Amino acid sequence: MANLNDVHYTVIVATTPVQPMPDATQLPHDRHPTIRLIPMPADTNAAGDIFGGWIMSQVDIAGSIVASRRAKTRVVTVAVNEFLFREPVFVGDIVSCYAEVIRVGRTSLTVFVEVYAERNVHAELCIKVTQATLTYVALDKHGKPRPVATDT
Ligand SMILES: CC(C)(COP(=O)(O)OP(=O)(O)OC[C@H]1O[C@@H](n2cnc3c(N)ncnc32)[C@H](O)[C@@H]1OP(=O)(O)O)[C@@H](O)C(=O)NCCC(=O)NCCS
Repeated sequence: MANLNDVHYTVIVATTPVQPMPDATQLPHDRHPTIRLIPMPADTNAAGDIFGGWIMSQVDIAGSIVASRRAKTRVVTVAVNEFLFREPVFVGDIVSCYAEVIRVGRTSLTVFVEVYAERNVHAELCIKVTQATLTYVALDKHGKPRPVATDT
Protein backbone atom coordinates (compact mmCIF):
# COMPACT_ATOMS: atom_id res chain seq x y z
CA MET A 1 0.00 0.00 0.00
CA ALA A 2 1.37 3.41 -0.99
CA ASN A 3 2.43 5.76 1.73
CA LEU A 4 0.73 9.13 1.30
CA ASN A 5 4.12 10.79 1.69
CA ASP A 6 5.23 9.05 -1.49
CA VAL A 7 2.38 10.36 -3.62
CA HIS A 8 3.46 13.08 -5.99
CA TYR A 9 0.96 15.35 -7.63
CA THR A 10 1.37 16.85 -11.04
CA VAL A 11 -0.64 19.98 -11.59
CA ILE A 12 -1.60 20.57 -15.18
CA VAL A 13 -2.72 24.08 -15.98
CA ALA A 14 -4.81 24.14 -19.12
CA THR A 15 -4.31 27.35 -21.00
CA THR A 16 -6.95 28.37 -23.46
CA PRO A 17 -6.10 30.83 -26.22
CA VAL A 18 -7.03 34.34 -25.26
CA GLN A 19 -10.01 35.43 -27.33
CA PRO A 20 -10.10 39.04 -28.43
CA MET A 21 -12.65 40.70 -26.19
CA PRO A 22 -14.66 43.69 -27.29
CA ASP A 23 -13.71 46.78 -25.36
CA ALA A 24 -15.66 46.90 -22.15
CA THR A 25 -16.89 50.35 -21.35
CA GLN A 26 -19.36 52.14 -19.15
CA LEU A 27 -22.71 53.71 -19.87
CA PRO A 28 -22.48 57.48 -20.34
CA HIS A 29 -22.85 59.04 -16.89
CA ASP A 30 -23.71 62.54 -18.09
CA ARG A 31 -27.00 61.74 -19.86
CA HIS A 32 -30.03 59.51 -19.71
CA PRO A 33 -30.77 56.80 -22.29
CA THR A 34 -33.49 57.80 -24.74
CA ILE A 35 -34.82 54.25 -24.62
CA ARG A 36 -33.77 51.12 -22.74
CA LEU A 37 -35.09 47.60 -23.34
CA ILE A 38 -34.29 43.89 -23.36
CA PRO A 39 -34.47 41.89 -26.63
CA MET A 40 -36.41 38.63 -26.50
CA PRO A 41 -35.94 35.29 -28.33
CA ALA A 42 -38.48 36.40 -30.95
CA ASP A 43 -36.02 39.19 -31.94
CA THR A 44 -33.23 36.83 -33.05
CA ASN A 45 -31.93 36.05 -36.52
CA ALA A 46 -31.26 32.54 -37.85
CA ALA A 47 -27.90 32.43 -36.05
CA GLY A 48 -29.45 33.21 -32.68
CA ASP A 49 -28.09 36.76 -32.33
CA ILE A 50 -30.41 39.72 -32.22
CA PHE A 51 -31.65 40.61 -35.71
CA GLY A 52 -30.05 43.76 -37.11
CA GLY A 53 -33.44 45.05 -38.18
CA TRP A 54 -34.61 44.98 -34.55
CA ILE A 55 -31.65 47.15 -33.55
CA MET A 56 -32.29 49.51 -36.48
CA SER A 57 -35.88 49.86 -35.39
CA GLN A 58 -34.93 50.80 -31.82
CA VAL A 59 -32.32 53.26 -33.10
CA ASP A 60 -34.88 54.87 -35.42
CA ILE A 61 -37.37 55.20 -32.56
CA ALA A 62 -34.76 56.72 -30.23
CA GLY A 63 -33.64 59.17 -32.92
CA SER A 64 -37.21 60.20 -33.69
CA ILE A 65 -37.89 60.95 -30.01
CA VAL A 66 -35.12 63.54 -29.70
CA ALA A 67 -35.78 64.93 -33.19
CA SER A 68 -39.48 65.33 -32.50
CA ARG A 69 -38.81 66.96 -29.12
CA ARG A 70 -36.40 69.42 -30.71
CA ALA A 71 -38.71 70.18 -33.65
CA LYS A 72 -41.78 70.31 -31.38
CA THR A 73 -43.74 68.49 -34.05
CA ARG A 74 -43.89 65.06 -35.66
CA VAL A 75 -40.98 63.94 -37.79
CA VAL A 76 -40.28 61.29 -40.39
CA THR A 77 -37.03 59.56 -41.16
CA VAL A 78 -35.70 60.73 -44.52
CA ALA A 79 -32.25 59.09 -44.44
CA VAL A 80 -30.04 56.68 -42.58
CA ASN A 81 -26.67 58.30 -43.17
CA GLU A 82 -24.50 55.79 -41.29
CA PHE A 83 -25.17 52.56 -39.45
CA LEU A 84 -22.35 50.61 -37.83
CA PHE A 85 -22.88 47.29 -36.07
CA ARG A 86 -19.69 46.99 -34.01
CA GLU A 87 -20.64 44.03 -31.81
CA PRO A 88 -23.56 41.57 -31.66
CA VAL A 89 -26.48 41.90 -29.28
CA PHE A 90 -27.78 38.84 -27.44
CA VAL A 91 -31.09 37.82 -25.87
CA GLY A 92 -31.22 39.18 -22.34
CA ASP A 93 -28.80 42.06 -22.86
CA ILE A 94 -29.99 45.36 -21.45
CA VAL A 95 -29.87 47.61 -24.50
CA SER A 96 -29.63 51.38 -24.03
CA CYS A 97 -29.93 53.86 -26.91
CA TYR A 98 -28.51 57.35 -26.41
CA ALA A 99 -29.73 59.80 -29.06
CA GLU A 100 -28.58 63.38 -29.55
CA VAL A 101 -29.48 66.01 -32.14
CA ILE A 102 -26.18 67.03 -33.73
CA ARG A 103 -27.40 69.30 -36.52
CA VAL A 104 -30.50 71.35 -37.23
CA GLY A 105 -31.16 72.39 -40.82
CA ARG A 106 -34.11 74.33 -42.20
CA THR A 107 -36.62 71.48 -41.97
CA SER A 108 -34.30 68.57 -41.15
CA LEU A 109 -32.54 67.35 -38.03
CA THR A 110 -29.55 65.02 -37.91
CA VAL A 111 -29.32 62.70 -34.93
CA PHE A 112 -26.42 60.60 -33.65
CA VAL A 113 -27.41 57.43 -31.79
CA GLU A 114 -25.11 55.23 -29.71
CA VAL A 115 -26.25 51.81 -28.50
CA TYR A 116 -24.78 50.01 -25.50
CA ALA A 117 -25.45 46.45 -24.32
CA GLU A 118 -25.03 45.36 -20.72
CA ARG A 119 -24.23 41.68 -21.09
CA ASN A 120 -24.14 40.78 -17.44
CA VAL A 121 -25.54 43.27 -15.00
CA HIS A 122 -23.81 41.61 -12.07
CA ALA A 123 -20.40 41.74 -13.74
CA GLU A 124 -21.15 45.21 -15.10
CA LEU A 125 -19.88 44.22 -18.53
CA CYS A 126 -21.01 46.94 -20.88
CA ILE A 127 -20.17 47.14 -24.58
CA LYS A 128 -20.86 49.75 -27.22
CA VAL A 129 -22.53 47.68 -29.93
CA THR A 130 -23.85 50.12 -32.52
CA GLN A 131 -23.71 53.70 -33.66
CA ALA A 132 -25.77 55.43 -36.31
CA THR A 133 -26.52 58.80 -37.83
CA LEU A 134 -30.01 59.47 -39.15
CA THR A 135 -31.82 62.46 -40.64
CA TYR A 136 -35.42 63.37 -39.84
CA VAL A 137 -37.70 65.96 -41.39
CA ALA A 138 -40.19 68.00 -39.38
CA LEU A 139 -43.69 67.90 -40.85
CA ASP A 140 -46.68 70.21 -40.64
CA LYS A 141 -50.23 68.96 -40.23
CA HIS A 142 -50.45 68.39 -43.99
CA GLY A 143 -47.41 66.10 -43.96
CA LYS A 144 -45.21 68.71 -45.68
CA PRO A 145 -41.70 69.71 -44.50
CA ARG A 146 -41.95 72.47 -41.92
CA PRO A 147 -39.16 74.83 -40.77
CA VAL A 148 -37.65 73.95 -37.40
CA ALA A 149 -37.68 76.80 -34.90
CA THR A 150 -34.19 78.14 -34.28
CA ASP A 151 -34.66 78.36 -30.51
CA THR A 152 -33.83 75.27 -28.45
C1 LIG B 1 -39.27 63.33 -45.83
C2 LIG B 1 -40.12 63.99 -46.94
C3 LIG B 1 -41.35 64.65 -46.33
C4 LIG B 1 -39.24 65.05 -47.58
O1 LIG B 1 -39.98 65.63 -48.59
P1 LIG B 1 -39.24 66.49 -49.75
O2 LIG B 1 -40.29 67.12 -50.59
O3 LIG B 1 -38.22 65.61 -50.39
O4 LIG B 1 -38.53 67.62 -48.90
P2 LIG B 1 -37.26 68.49 -49.25
O5 LIG B 1 -36.64 68.14 -50.55
O6 LIG B 1 -37.71 69.91 -49.03
O7 LIG B 1 -36.24 68.05 -48.10
C5 LIG B 1 -36.56 68.28 -46.75
C6 LIG B 1 -35.30 68.20 -45.94
O8 LIG B 1 -34.81 66.86 -45.99
C7 LIG B 1 -33.45 66.87 -46.37
N1 LIG B 1 -33.16 65.66 -47.12
C8 LIG B 1 -33.84 65.19 -48.20
N2 LIG B 1 -33.28 64.06 -48.62
C9 LIG B 1 -32.23 63.81 -47.79
C10 LIG B 1 -31.24 62.80 -47.70
N3 LIG B 1 -31.20 61.78 -48.58
N4 LIG B 1 -30.32 62.86 -46.73
C11 LIG B 1 -30.33 63.87 -45.83
N5 LIG B 1 -31.23 64.88 -45.85
C12 LIG B 1 -32.17 64.83 -46.83
C13 LIG B 1 -33.30 68.12 -47.22
O9 LIG B 1 -31.93 68.51 -47.28
C14 LIG B 1 -34.17 69.07 -46.46
O10 LIG B 1 -33.45 69.53 -45.31
P3 LIG B 1 -33.38 71.12 -44.92
O11 LIG B 1 -34.74 71.69 -45.05
O12 LIG B 1 -32.91 71.13 -43.50
O13 LIG B 1 -32.41 71.74 -45.87
C15 LIG B 1 -40.56 62.96 -48.01
O14 LIG B 1 -39.40 62.55 -48.72
C16 LIG B 1 -41.24 61.75 -47.40
O15 LIG B 1 -42.39 61.83 -46.97
N6 LIG B 1 -40.50 60.61 -47.31
C17 LIG B 1 -41.05 59.42 -46.67
C18 LIG B 1 -40.70 59.42 -45.18
C19 LIG B 1 -41.00 58.09 -44.54
O16 LIG B 1 -42.01 57.47 -44.85
N7 LIG B 1 -40.09 57.63 -43.66
C20 LIG B 1 -40.16 56.30 -43.10
C21 LIG B 1 -41.11 56.21 -41.95
S1 LIG B 1 -40.90 57.43 -40.70
